[in-house]
Amino acid sequence: MSTKTTRSQRLTVRDIAARKGTTPIVCVTAYTAPMAGFMDEAVDVLLVGDSLGMVLYGFDSTLPVTLDMMIAHGAAVVRGSDHACVVVDMPFGSYQASPAQAFESCARVLAETGCAAVKLEGGREMAETIRFLSTRGVPVMAHVGLTPQSFNQFGGFRTRGRTMTEAEDIAADAEAVADAGAFSVVIEGTLEPVARAITENLKIPTIGIGASPACDGQVLVAEDLLGLFSDFTPKFVKRYANLGADVTKAVTAYAADVRARRFPGPEHTTSAKPKK
Ligand code: KIV
Repeated sequence: MSTKTTRSQRLTVRDIAARKGTTPIVCVTAYTAPMAGFMDEAVDVLLVGDSLGMVLYGFDSTLPVTLDMMIAHGAAVVRGSDHACVVVDMPFGSYQASPAQAFESCARVLAETGCAAVKLEGGREMAETIRFLSTRGVPVMAHVGLTPQSFNQFGGFRTRGRTMTEAEDIAADAEAVADAGAFSVVIEGTLEPVARAITENLKIPTIGIGASPACDGQVLVAEDLLGLFSDFTPKFVKRYANLGADVTKAVTAYAADVRARRFPGPEHTTSAKPKK
């Protein structure tokens, strides 16, 4: 008889889509198996965001992140969880060239990680690709508003929707990706009334970050909410813990123990003599 406890059933893309206008969807980023395990039961969606390029790898932007990196981290998050719906971000350059390129990259992500869906950035310009993918077995979470992979084009990471034209563009983007078959859409860094109006207008769930409490769900980078990334806390982040400081404190105590020969103690070593 197996000693394994019964695994809870994973939330599916359909479960997430069905949450429109009901209980808020809780989404957090995860990049590694242990972190996925710590957060899995508490959330609905684990997003393997390409923000890992900045948070884990120390890049200045998400642009250097590769498909192989996303696949390695996506597979780790799937292995480390058994409850949340796992969504993996498509990195810059792996999907924008054509629907066929996007399908090839997404097929690798789905097959090699075991995740439930992919996320990709873009609005009207990505609608054809989203339709191509979602009619061929690739569930897509779209991402509009502030799209970090386009920061060169936007000239930085500033909040979007500040002019009527920009607000109308974001609303048109959200409508286009929903019409194309996306099962949900992240709205990032967008003025609150704009994100609220989009949420009211769309039939698919919106997941906000720096957007609106009216969104159907919220997403944060786990390291931001845990105080594990940088000392700077952006306005849209609420910090729930200060684990970075705890890490420094714990490792400083370990270093002092090693230098004073307090570690390892007798309880950490095996003192039996070797057998002859
Ligand atoms: O890469 C990421 O982590 C994201 C979320 C912040 C939405 O795209």
